[in-house]
Amino acid sequence: MRVLLTGGSGFIGSHIALLLLERGFDVLILDSFVNSSTNVINRIKSYLNNKDLKYKLETINCDIRDKKLLDKVFNDSIKEKKPIDIVIHLAGLKSVSESLINPLHYWDVNVIGTLNLLLTMKEYECYSLVFSSSATIYGLSDSVPMTEDQKISPINPYGKTKVAIENMFSDLYHSSMNLWKICSLRYFNPVGAHPSGVIGEDPIGIPNNLFPFLTQVAIGRRKHLQIFGDDWETKDGSGIRDYIHIIDLAEGHLSSIDYLNSNDSCLEFINLGSGIGYSVFQIISQFELSTGCKIPYSIQRRRDGDVPICYADISKAKKLLDWSPMRSLEQICLDGWNWQMKNPKGYS
Ligand code: NAD
Ligand code: UD1
Repeated sequence: MRVLLTGGSGFIGSHIALLLLERGFDVLILDSFVNSSTNVINRIKSYLNNKDLKYKLETINCDIRDKKLLDKVFNDSIKEKKPIDIVIHLAGLKSVSESLINPLHYWDVNVIGTLNLLLTMKEYECYSLVFSSSATIYGLSDSVPMTEDQKISPINPYGKTKVAIENMFSDLYHSSMNLWKICSLRYFNPVGAHPSGVIGEDPIGIPNNLFPFLTQVAIGRRKHLQIFGDDWETKDGSGIRDYIHIIDLAEGHLSSIDYLNSNDSCLEFINLGSGIGYSVFQIISQFELSTGCKIPYSIQRRRDGDVPICYADISKAKKLLDWSPMRSLEQICLDGWNWQMKNPKGYS
């Protein structure tokens, strides 16, 4: 089975790619490398070579907004008699703060890019799609854990682009029933790394997110962690989130492929998280306990666009996908730290 994996060189995409290849899928990674390194692909290849695994992997440098090149990718695949059976679409931009400064760029890349992809899939009769949506679409919700049917009210442009894409899926699905198979996966906070330490999270520039910042403090690349607010309405005053091991998240995509393959037509919006909420202080404590590192920190004012508490109800994923997260917060800390120690400067 041939999978087109857009954004396959990024943090989440690289872990999905590795799992797909290990399980014998023919993988075509499409990425513009605007937020990732080409070294990722070499790492994946050398990991599989070292394990003596035969694999089918091709990479194409392409921007999803380049319709002509997308056409060529689908057309060439048909000509080579290995048409794309399914698309896992992760290519896009994900920084909330950047989206507040440059919203049109986010609408262009995320929404126009996805529109291009859908148009091309339709033209080449590829109707199966797994998409990376985000928990950010729930916004300021007063009820936790978040369920898929609760109110959608994003509070930043990034979140609004994800909602627009989900709406596009609904329109498309209802316009031609019995044709499309779509799983829109709403990720909570994917963290950690592949246990080998071969691939992991390596944000370009200063990390926006808690976990990569924390491991960079631990390795000495940053002086101290800033905690964005200790005055939230939570048990210890810091923000609460749902951290899910990146391998658990990647496995959710394989389960989604199985789900799509066993259904004639579907459109499902599904939370992927651990189902547990941890505060920033709890994350620091667990990281210190698991790794023996001391994390210096200071308390800063709240970050714009943050919500106090966000964690998932994952019963739909368990039921529909027959999937459950298996890895603990301790495992997340150990694997994230293993990656950072083996790659103090990331992929560079
Ligand atoms: P990432 O930035 O590491 O990966 C995204 C990849 O897409 C990068 O390799 C980048 O080069 C590529 N890309 C960006 N714009 C592109 C374009 N126009 N054409 C082709 N490739 C392009 O991010 P990630 O953490 O791996 O996230 C992947 C997806 O998951 C994103 O869509 C993001 O919105 C979504 N998501 C991520 C999180 C998270 O916490 N990491 C949470 C919820 C949703
Ligand atoms: C953020 C985005 C979310 C996006 C995801 C992946 C915001 C508001 N949300 O999720 O839309 O899908 O990243 O890109 O940006 N924290 C600190 N210090 C730090 C970093 C974070 O205290 O240096 C705190 C935050 O205030 C929050 C928690 O740690 O309470 C987690 O933050 P983060 O890792 O950025 O994830 P989200 O905010 O959930």
